[in-house]
Amino acid sequence: MTEQHAAGEPRIVVVPAPDATGRVAAEEIAAGLAAAAEARGVAHLATTGGSTPMAVYRALAAPPLRDRVPWDRTHVWWTDDRFVPRDHELSNVKPLDDVLLGEGQAPLPAANIHPFPTNRALSAGRDGTWCADALEAELRTARLESREGWPVLDVVLLGVGSDGHILSVFPGSSAFDADAWALPIPAPTHIEPHVPRVTLNPYLVTVARRVVVVAHGAGKAEVLRAILRGDRTPERLPAQLARRTGATWVLDDAAAERLDGAVLERRGTEPAGEGAG
Ligand code: 6PG
Repeated sequence: MTEQHAAGEPRIVVVPAPDATGRVAAEEIAAGLAAAAEARGVAHLATTGGSTPMAVYRALAAPPLRDRVPWDRTHVWWTDDRFVPRDHELSNVKPLDDVLLGEGQAPLPAANIHPFPTNRALSAGRDGTWCADALEAELRTARLESREGWPVLDVVLLGVGSDGHILSVFPGSSAFDADAWALPIPAPTHIEPHVPRVTLNPYLVTVARRVVVVAHGAGKAEVLRAILRGDRTPERLPAQLARRTGATWVLDDAAAERLDGAVLERRGTEPAGEGAG
């Protein structure tokens, strides 16, 4: 990508307990999907991997949010995945299958679920490039609105790695020089799990309508300070692509503890009112 967007600053919402981050993030996601379906008749969500989405899926699959999400008009994509089968323990799709569809039985039509086609790739002996290209072709077929040549997702959910990565875009990633919408990433050696990945292009984060970032725990406090309060060097700290207007960062007290002096929005542990959203 050639142009750096005028980024602005995100909302930062702080909750007292790690569990509450998932619920607050789920409220943001449900509101974003409902607004998109209302405005355009369809809503596109890109979800993440790691430990972040479990609590989010639990909250989305239970009332009151379950009844606010326009499931039949919602399409789900992944920001990134590990190059493993869908039912593998390391798959980023498995938590959605297990928690959102399994336990919660959210009425998301199977045809609206668009994982990176790792199963098809692996069974046909294809590589990560094939898998990323196939996902890009599927995303093009979905005809999202575009901005500067990039598809505009309605909501992107992200977790942040301890090295400041988002998606499978690690510090210094060659993904910053790529024009493809999706691309293969070699297995990282500095962060687990050490398996090859496929990822969306990081610049999709900069054009998405809403971005929701979730992080909790004291282990993330230092990197969050650098991301949210330090100089902007996204090639070194990819999560800074989500340091922008239109993004909401949902942190627990421990993760936010180095953000002193910041304008933080504090929320309690109680769910937003039934009428909200
Ligand atoms: C992955 C992710 C990755 C993740 C962060 C944060 O596949 O690993 O998509 O970007 O979101 O590493 O992970 P946690 O939520 O486990 O802290």
